[in-house]
Amino acid sequence: MARSKPVRPPQPAALAAAIERWFPTRARTLPWRVLVGTDPPRRDPYHALVAETMLQQTQVSRVVEKFVRFIELFPSVRALAEASEQDVLSAWTGLGYYRRARNLHAAARQIVSEFGGQVPQDVGDLRRLKGVGPYTAGAIASIAFARPEPIVDGNVARVLLRIHGRDAAADDPAVRPWLWEQAAGLAHAAGQPGVLNEGLMELGATVCLPAPATPRCELCPVREHCRARLDGRQMSIPRAKVRAVRTRVVCVSARVTRSDGATLIEQRPDRGMWASMWQAPTDEHVLAHQHPEPDLDAPRRTLARSLGLEADRLLPDGRFDFLATHRHMTFVVFRARARAKDRPARGEFVPIDRIRSLALSTPQRRVLLGEDEGGLI
Ligand code: ADE
Repeated sequence: MARSKPVRPPQPAALAAAIERWFPTRARTLPWRVLVGTDPPRRDPYHALVAETMLQQTQVSRVVEKFVRFIELFPSVRALAEASEQDVLSAWTGLGYYRRARNLHAAARQIVSEFGGQVPQDVGDLRRLKGVGPYTAGAIASIAFARPEPIVDGNVARVLLRIHGRDAAADDPAVRPWLWEQAAGLAHAAGQPGVLNEGLMELGATVCLPAPATPRCELCPVREHCRARLDGRQMSIPRAKVRAVRTRVVCVSARVTRSDGATLIEQRPDRGMWASMWQAPTDEHVLAHQHPEPDLDAPRRTLARSLGLEADRLLPDGRFDFLATHRHMTFVVFRARARAKDRPARGEFVPIDRIRSLALSTPQRRVLLGEDEGGLI
């Protein structure tokens, strides 16, 4: 497409000022955006740490409710540091990427032991906290402590690439240093770096929408500066990223219940996906690439044998698919009634009310409790 008239490259001071003016008028009301009564009012750094950790890989709409509940359960850094890992994982259910919960828990303990219970202000100190990368450190330092620190996530990268008309994928490692330089230039030019940074995020999330949605350039505070808009290239910048093919996995689960309602569960290994969380006895079978509909007879017999049950006692109880980042998982669920003389060779019987409070992945909540949290296909 032909380039339109040359204009001066966008200037950090003008961009920052426009975004800072715009953000307060357009900011969504979100529970972690509540100001605390300092002078000038600031955001609570612990709330910022929790929110930014939750928001790393999860959409705002999913985070809102989980954040409120999490803060009710663990109202302070100390409360979180003193909680058990299983309680923290349980509060994280539905958000996925449970490593973040473990890291956040470890970070709270570090804040207590190394920083006297106060979230540090300095980016270098923040980076020492478990699970806190450059984005989260920059977000907390700028949002809670008004420090001129940059942030770059997928939304911010898209905004910057479009403003500068750079034809690259948002996650291309080759443009990463450039993106951070641009974001740093803006943060330094800003009067209120936290407002600027959240404005950039908000712009990406609500206005500078990713293709195939059409960006809402008419609402954009920096439209006059935006090279992609001036060139009509908003839909092709950033370049589409190449999606990795997901590994196909069939998860064969058995919900074995006793007449008193107690149900058989087992703990997952302490490494890998959903580490240390609880599940109905489940065998995972990785399928060869483009494998057709799996034959379930052998997996069912294997599962039954591992439980010490005859295969025909495992009755089909439905199936559903669950998409994780790198895996397309099909859960095939069987149910069985335990008899008094059964001594399952795997797992332990736990009352269903207690199971409800354990750390269970979203698909296992569905297998064991029939709960559907969405995120399923
Ligand atoms: N995504 C990441 N951080 C965010 C924040 N503070 N507000 C809204 N969306 C976000």
